[in-house]
Amino acid sequence: MDDFRWICVMVLFTGLVESQVPPNLSCYSPRPFSPSCIDKYAAFPGHLNCEYGPFSGRPLHTNDTGTYFVMETSIHVEQAQIAYLHNKIRARVSPTASDMTKLKENSGLGSTAERFARRCTADSTWYQRAMPGGFLVGQNHLYSNTALTWTDVIRKWESENTTFVYGSTGNNPSLVGNYTQIVSSETSSVGCGSAQCSGFYLYICLYAPMLDPVRINKPYKKSNKSCDDCPGKCNGTLCDYGGLICLSGSKLNMTTFRCDCVSTVRPGTYNDSVCFLNCINNTDSDPDCSGSLIGTCGKNIDTMFRCPWMCNVCPYSDRNWNPILISKMPWEKGLPDCTTTPPPTTTTTTTTTTATTLTASTSRVTQTSAGHSFATSPAIPAIAGSSVATRHNSNAQLQNGGIAVAFASELYIGCTIIMMLNRFTS
Ligand SMILES: *[C@@H]1O[C@H](CO)[C@@H](O)[C@H](O)[C@H]1NC(C)=O
Ligand SMILES: *[C@@H]1O[C@H](CO)[C@@H](O)[C@H](O)[C@H]1NC(C)=O
Ligand SMILES: *[C@@H]1O[C@H](CO)[C@@H](O)[C@H](O)[C@H]1NC(C)=O
Ligand SMILES: *[C@@H]1O[C@H](CO)[C@@H](O)[C@H](O)[C@H]1NC(C)=O
Ligand SMILES: *[C@@H]1O[C@H](CO)[C@@H](O)[C@H](O)[C@H]1NC(C)=O
Ligand SMILES: *[C@@H]1O[C@H](CO)[C@@H](O)[C@H](O)[C@H]1NC(C)=O
Ligand SMILES: *[C@@H]1O[C@H](CO)[C@@H](O)[C@H](O)[C@H]1NC(C)=O
Ligand SMILES: *[C@@H]1O[C@H](CO)[C@@H](O)[C@H](O)[C@H]1NC(C)=O
Ligand SMILES: *[C@@H]1O[C@H](CO)[C@@H](O)[C@H](O)[C@H]1NC(C)=O
Repeated sequence: MDDFRWICVMVLFTGLVESQVPPNLSCYSPRPFSPSCIDKYAAFPGHLNCEYGPFSGRPLHTNDTGTYFVMETSIHVEQAQIAYLHNKIRARVSPTASDMTKLKENSGLGSTAERFARRCTADSTWYQRAMPGGFLVGQNHLYSNTALTWTDVIRKWESENTTFVYGSTGNNPSLVGNYTQIVSSETSSVGCGSAQCSGFYLYICLYAPMLDPVRINKPYKKSNKSCDDCPGKCNGTLCDYGGLICLSGSKLNMTTFRCDCVSTVRPGTYNDSVCFLNCINNTDSDPDCSGSLIGTCGKNIDTMFRCPWMCNVCPYSDRNWNPILISKMPWEKGLPDCTTTPPPTTTTTTTTTTATTLTASTSRVTQTSAGHSFATSPAIPAIAGSSVATRHNSNAQLQNGGIAVAFASELYIGCTIIMMLNRFTS
């Protein structure tokens, strides 16, 4: 692992040196690029993976590694414990669930969560966290004046269970959002990170796929008997699919143990095993992509899955996308290479989460005012999305390693990607 980090540092350094010399060094220097900002995130204006460091928060469980997040081995142990704590809650929901799945820890989500926590603000929208070509990512957070254990943090979220009423239409997302995300049966992975900020601690957990806001009143299926939906895959009271994850808005089919892909797209857009995205047909087929869905990529949570071309998900998130052809440093793209606003260091405590920024309407979801704030929020540099220095992601190397590797690779930011690129192209 030490080697790994050295390679990473060297590649980062080499990458900088090899790049075209920026026209205004005094301007560029104070703003290091974010190694997690690859094309597919850069195509999403305001994406959190494209935010610049330095981060103001210090990670709680490890040494401060400076501007860039570098995953430490200790995070793996911690993430397994975090998944265990979540599964304890999922296993004892009341009323009983027939389709509750066992969550699996994901260190990629964990490292991303820590990166987000080190911003020292939990403010974010689902659009800024989405893994294009992967899934939507839900977020729970907790600000605290004192350092807490993950047991404390997760119990605090669980205590919303006294407010939550299964099946009621009166559940207030801002009061039960953390709990319902924890007991969302469609969620399969979790990863958490924390940071010490000036005067407070911030705890963030990320969940994939995100709880669909239309399911807030019924985040799982209730039944008199647990595991009713997954005979043969039951462990205790949880359905255990061994960490199978369904990508691209697809749903786990408990009968076939496969993922049912979004079906309104052109044939071949989603690979039918776990619904990998293939940007093979350079246009969308859902009639709504040229109609009512236009301009709703940041507002309707399913638009990016139904219209991957319209929403900039294609071609950037295609497994075979070769970003070397187009990735450019900001100045190469003719964009300003200075942030116009300083990196976020605010310590606001008025926060919103996924659930509070979404209101359900029919089967789609429309984002309310908070949802639009990603474009103008002072916490996010206005040009961050498009002006960041993108790095090269060689997705082609990722496709044969199976679901786990593909998933982790989607999320495991920065160094791995750069290291692999270096290895495979040299
Ligand atoms: C470099 O950027 C700084 C900050 O924006 C600006 O004040 C300065 O004039 C620029 N220098 C050149 C040579 O463009
Ligand atoms: C920080 O890293 C140094 C060197 O690797 C190590 O000796 C020290 O114990 C670490 N501190 C913590 C709090 O992990
Ligand atoms: C609700 O959450 C609290 C706090 O974690 C827990 O002690 C209690 O058992 C939970 N109640 C139910 C019915 O799950
Ligand atoms: C999640 O929990 C934190 C800490 O209790 C709280 O500040 C926040 O409002 C909750 N969010 C939702 C959506 O329930
Ligand atoms: C659950 O149990 C109750 C009482 O035993 C029964 O009336 C009801 O039909 C059962 N529901 C299901 C879905 O089996
Ligand atoms: C059931 O879950 C427990 C706890 O996570 C685990 O130790 C055990 O191996 C699982 N059993 C099977 C058959 O997967
Ligand atoms: C699961 O897949 C089977 C076979 O393709 C299909 O008949 C069934 O409707 C699917 N179940 C759900 C809930 O979509
Ligand atoms: C592209 O879309 C067309 C029209 O829907 C379809 O007939 C064709 O099979 C698709 N191409 C591939 C490679 O799947
Ligand atoms: C779907 O993806 C898997 C994993 O990359 C691959 O092995 C399989 O051949 C693909 N299937 C199709 C029909 O493209």
